[in-house]
Order: sequence, then C-alpha cells, then structure tokens
Amino acid sequence: MDELLSIVTVGHVDHGKSTVIGRLMADAGVLPEGKLEQIRENCRRNSKPFEYAFLLDALKNEREQGITIDTARCFFSSDVRSYIIIDAPGHIEFLKNMVTGASRAEAALLVIDAARGVEENTRRHGYFLSMLGIRQVAVLVNKMDLVNYQERVFRDIRDEYEQFLAKIGIVPASFIPVSGMQGDNIVIPSANMPWYQGVTVLRQMDAFRTIPAPERMPLRMPVQGVYKFTQNNDSRRIVAGTIDSGSVRAGDELIFLPSGKKTTVKNLEVFNAPTPQRFAAGQAAGFTTTEQIFVRRGEVVCRADETPPCVGVRLKTNLFWLGRQPLQRNRRYFFKCGTAKVEMQLEKVERVVNASDLSCQTRQYVEKNEVAECVLTLERPIAFDLAGSIEATSRFVIVDEYEIAGGGIITESLAEYDYDTRNIRWSGDAMTSAERARHQSNRGLVVWMTGLSGSGKTTIAQEVERRLVTSGVTAYVLDGDKVRRGLCSDLGFTDTDRTENIRRVSEAANLFRDAGVVTLVTLISPFASSRANARQVIGKDFMEVYVKASLETCIRRDPKKLYRKALDGNIRSFTGLDSPYEAPDNPDLLLDTERWSEEECVEALLAAIGKWLKA
Ligand code: ADX
Repeated sequence: MDELLSIVTVGHVDHGKSTVIGRLMADAGVLPEGKLEQIRENCRRNSKPFEYAFLLDALKNEREQGITIDTARCFFSSDVRSYIIIDAPGHIEFLKNMVTGASRAEAALLVIDAARGVEENTRRHGYFLSMLGIRQVAVLVNKMDLVNYQERVFRDIRDEYEQFLAKIGIVPASFIPVSGMQGDNIVIPSANMPWYQGVTVLRQMDAFRTIPAPERMPLRMPVQGVYKFTQNNDSRRIVAGTIDSGSVRAGDELIFLPSGKKTTVKNLEVFNAPTPQRFAAGQAAGFTTTEQIFVRRGEVVCRADETPPCVGVRLKTNLFWLGRQPLQRNRRYFFKCGTAKVEMQLEKVERVVNASDLSCQTRQYVEKNEVAECVLTLERPIAFDLAGSIEATSRFVIVDEYEIAGGGIITESLAEYDYDTRNIRWSGDAMTSAERARHQSNRGLVVWMTGLSGSGKTTIAQEVERRLVTSGVTAYVLDGDKVRRGLCSDLGFTDTDRTENIRRVSEAANLFRDAGVVTLVTLISPFASSRANARQVIGKDFMEVYVKASLETCIRRDPKKLYRKALDGNIRSFTGLDSPYEAPDNPDLLLDTERWSEEECVEALLAAIGKWLKA
C-alpha cells in the first residue's frame, strides 16, 4: 500500500479537532498496543477525565507502528491507504507553504461545534480552504451528543453552511454528524443517530481521491535553454529543461507556448549515456527537433495531442507576501513561473487575509505575512496552468529588487493570449463572468460618466462596479480605453471620430442595459450633442454623471502621463488643451473630485444608483 493522502483539519480550537482525530486513530485500531490504556491510567492517577485529545499529545514525537506525530502532523494507515493529517490553521508557516505550493493537502476535514453552530470563525475557515484551492471537503458537525443527537440541529447547520460554501465555490463531499467524544460516526456508524444514513469519517477519508501522479498529467517542460553544438559538423540544437509533468518520446508532436510554434521530437539526447525510451516528470531532459525552430528560455514545451496550458497576461492569484516592502500598485516586479520571468504589476487586491487569525480586509496593498487574492498584469504573455490542475506550472514567485518577496498559485486566467492571431482577449475587468453570474437579477441602467482625461471616471466606476457586483447587482464598466482596444480600434481623436466613438458606445451600452446590466460608461464624451444623443438612444434608464476636475488638476494628476506628452507636442487634439470639452449644464449627478475623496464620490454614486434601481 503506497498511496498517501494528505488531509488538513480545520476548525476552531474548541470545536474538538484533536478529539475527533484521537478517536479516529483509536477506533481505526492503528494505535500501539496498550497506548489507550496507558493514557486512561494516567488520567485516573491525575484524577482528570480521559479525553481522546490527550492521545495526540501522548503520541507526539513517538515513532511506533508507523504512527508519527509532531506538533502539526500525524501520520497513520487505514486498510485503504496511508494518511498525513495536518492540523491548521493558526500556522503561518503552513499557510505560506500551501499558498506557495511547497506543501500540499488534497482534502480537508472541517470541524464545527454543533452546540455553537456556524460562526464568523467557521466562515473564515471555509474561505481559508477555498484560498488554498482545496476542493475535497467533508464538514464534521461535532459534539452531537451535546445537542441530544437532534437531526434538526444538524440540518440547520448543514443548510446554512452549505449555502455559504457554495458562494465561495466549495461543494462539500459530505456533512457528517459526529461525536468525537462518544465515537459516533467516526469509524463506527452511530446508533444514536438512526436518521443519518451517510458515510462515517473514515469512510469519507477513504473515498477522497488522490491527485494523479505528475507523470500521468499532460506534458509541461519549461525550456531552460537551447544548446547548439557547432563543432565537428555537429549542428544539433538541443532543447533542454526539467519535466514538470507528463512525458515525452521521439516522434511526439510538440507545441511551444506562448509562441505557439510547432514541431516534432527527433531524438532524445543524454550526455554520455545511452538514449532512454522516454523522459518523464522529474527528469532533466533534452531533445532535438525535426524542424529548426527558434524558441527561448521561458517557453513551455507541451504535447500537441494533450490539454494545453493557459496563455495569458492577466491572472487572478492567491499569494503569500514575504517582502519587507508591501506589495503595492504602480510598482514594477518580476514574476517567475517555471523558467519564464516577466515584468509585472499589481493591478488590484481583491481581499487581504491576515495569516494568523484569517480575518479579511479590502485594501490596495499587501503586507508581510499576509495572504491576498490579487489580480496581476504581466508585461507579456506566459504559459501557465491553474491551481488544482497541474501543480508546478500553476505556481509562481514574485521578485522585488532581486529578492523573492512572495509566492502563490494562479487561480484564474483573466485575459487569454491567442497565439494564432497574436491577440489578447481581455475579459474586461477584475470580475469574471462566472463570479458575476452567481449574483445578478436587477434591471439595467446606463450611468454615463463624462469628464476630462484624469478626472477619475474609471477609478470611481471600477470601485462602484466592484461594490455593486459583490452585493448582487449585475454591473459593468464600459471604459473608453477598453472600447478603443476593440469595438472602436479604428477610431482616433478627431471630432468626427469621437462622435462615432460615443455613438457606438451608446448603442452597446443600450444593449447591456437591455440585458439587465448596470452599465457604467466612462468616456470623456466632450460634446453635449453626443451625450444628448446617447440619452435619446437609451431612454429613461440613463443617468448623466459629471466627474468634475479642473484642467489644472488633471494636468497635475496626469496618471497616464498623456498631458505631459500632449504639452510637449507629442499628442494632438488632446481634450482640454487643443480640443474642446463642453461640461454638462445640468447633470443628474455631479461628482466634484477636487473637493470630495474617491470614497465620497463612490458613495454618492452608489446612493444615486441605489435610488434609481429602487424607483
Ligand atoms: S472620447 O473623446 O472619444 O470620449 P475616450 O473616453 O473614448 O474619448 O478616450 C479617452 C482616452 O483615450 C483617454 O483617457 C486617454 O487615455 C486616451 N487618449 C489618447 N489620445 C487622446 C486625445 N487626443 N484626447 C483625449 N484622450 C486621448
């Protein structure tokens, strides 16, 4: 029996994790002879009641009959396979290792106290599991003996917690009513809860799946280098690297990503040794190809007949920050995944979790020893996998001034690179359509935000969008820069082109509105006549918002450094300088960004939208 599954236990300290595990080992019959008796005897002598939790303490650092326990881990075997049970959280090291991929738990037992029900802490633990990308979860409703084994108590907890977990993308394998103290449903089906017909804890553990060995996954070989032999008429070019997953042999059709170049393996190459049949996960490999193709370090070698990795420039990640300086926006870092190394920036922090108490916050920087859900944008495309699929290629580290300052796992690809057309398909913004779809059900509205470049339209709109979407309202920012990348990529900044730009966006926004989306249009839209036309097209569900900042202020802010270029004469027809801006006379809402903070503007706009939606 060589299969090993690692399971993490999470739950509040008082909810009985250790009792459950102690009981599990006792009832599964994996304890050394006489151990249980010895502990009972100790308890009698010290006149304290026996508890299964003492077992774990007593076994610490012992190595008998295949059981090893140290402070946070316990190892034992059932009839089916071996287990490592890891106690978490409260363990910064554990969190760090998990998030950076240094260690791995494949499943989790989450313990809730039946008498206390679902608490803030229980929700944090659920979130913790989703952050680690653990998808196999069993929820143990413990201490059922304290609530007279009532089915209703169990059902209420299950229904409430199930709903919460669904929101964060976890569908538990089972909810099991147990008593660690009395041994109900741990290994032996409970006689006290005839209403429960499901699995016991041990049965559930045995039913968890192990992750397939890397060798059985699709091929991923980050290119370390391409070596040329030029001496003695030897013109071989050998592609070399270490195989992260899968295997490769002569004759395999390959694709290199992100370049998308294709070729076939000619020969496997080994220095000073007989040529093997194949190279597999974990091995250093080298091969020649049938065509001379030019590829570089950082590309990933994949097989054309297997599932390809993602290729993209905008990633949703869970990361652990170690750097002395906080991770922040508007700063350049290096992102390393496999052998690829590209410049990156932090685009957005979706949530920050304190590693000690797992409390969450929303702010736009990440400090040392914090875990965060972040959107990162890369300077150029790389090939990668998503956490939970292929391990090595879904991990990354971030380098800040030559030091590793953080690491994490990639959970979603937000802008895919199409290597055939060399286009990037932007998914729009930080929220994905999947996330969006879970909420929704409101009527549509177009919030038309006009103002000079740099007045703050996009910043306010994005935050409003985020708050609307996370509170269940379908919302979307239709941003000038965004539409000019695609829908209006043929247009420039002459008066005619701007008029056409605004016309197209009015039509598109109207369709979005029709589909039930609160659409935040952020265009300079300098002409009053164009805005009047938009109102005409869209009808009554239209709100004109003037995002006000003087030209002087915008020049001072100059977030994209365009005013400077324009003032230097490098951009022509720049709004406010040599192209006019007609401020609205009578907007539905005025946001004065010189007098109000970003937060105040966001609040004011949210209030106006809220009123509109209720009307
Ligand atoms: S509009 O006038 O047609 O409504 P739109 O909002 O789409 O403008 O685009 C404005 C954005 O394009 C600015 O935020 C800026 O990033 C960029 N831009 C580039 N050239 C110009 C220019 N000459 N005038 C204004 N914005 C420009």
